[in-house]
Amino acid sequence: METPRRVEHQLTDKGYVPVYTTGVVEQPWSNYSSTDHAVWAQLFERQQQILVGRASDEFLRTQRDMGMTPDRIPKFDELNKLLRKATGWELVGVEGLLPELTFFDHLANRRFPVTWWIRKQNQLDYLAEPDLFHDLFGHVPLLMNPVFADYMAAYGCGGVKAHGIGPEALVNLTRLYWYTVEFGLIRQPDGLRIYGSGIVSSKGESIYCLDSPAPNRIGFDLERVMRTRYRIDTFQKTYFVIDSYEQLMEATHPDFTPIYQRLSKQESIPAGNVLDSDTAFQRGTGEGWSQEGDV
Ligand code: PHE
Ligand code: CO
Repeated sequence: METPRRVEHQLTDKGYVPVYTTGVVEQPWSNYSSTDHAVWAQLFERQQQILVGRASDEFLRTQRDMGMTPDRIPKFDELNKLLRKATGWELVGVEGLLPELTFFDHLANRRFPVTWWIRKQNQLDYLAEPDLFHDLFGHVPLLMNPVFADYMAAYGCGGVKAHGIGPEALVNLTRLYWYTVEFGLIRQPDGLRIYGSGIVSSKGESIYCLDSPAPNRIGFDLERVMRTRYRIDTFQKTYFVIDSYEQLMEATHPDFTPIYQRLSKQESIPAGNVLDSDTAFQRGTGEGWSQEGDV
């Protein structure tokens, strides 16, 4: 397999992260080794089993509809035929994390950047940056859902706008992405379920986020979420729970400009705090939390 082309390390609210060349790349599908395909198969089968009764019905349904299988790494071109027809989205191959504005521009135009390379055998359980498994298995299924697809595109437009407003606005917006797209939970009639990509692509967190007594599980509230710091190096201390994708879409519909204004006068909230105004489905025990390290 080729190696991704990192260009620099950049200090962001997530700490120092590698930033890659901004260009779009063709998925070098025929260059994947048998080990790459085997890593995909292992991760795919492991998560498929864990996610029964844990991932949201909509995630499981859209994942089935896309026809991803364990036997080989999916081809972006094949997935794109389905995606374009369902919601007008398409996947583009990238080397890895993109500069923020480039990322927002892709989303605003319904292009989802997917890292073309997959992790190594010794990284099955943890990887500090997104790879093909996280991007494809975690993010792509819900892009088949019309409401979620619109939310992602609206987020991209909101990102371009926030980028123009300034770094504080971007911090607020990034927290929203983190606590919904990456680490969101949804309330179904039969209980809490996962829809966040960062969770569905992680064995440990798929179990922890629903089963552990440690974290808080709090009803989604836009400004509360935008004020809340988060964890990048441990499981989350708090998960925010939506009732439906429509609720998420509606809550984020208003112009954020006055909201950014208002939030700039308020303190951020530590990742593990519960407020009196919260709807807490579960108040975490905080067991095993490290005190340092919220970003
Ligand atoms: N409504 C937001 C704005 O005006 C844009 C947005 C939509 C942001 C959906 C996130 C998610 O900035
Ligand atoms: Co992600």
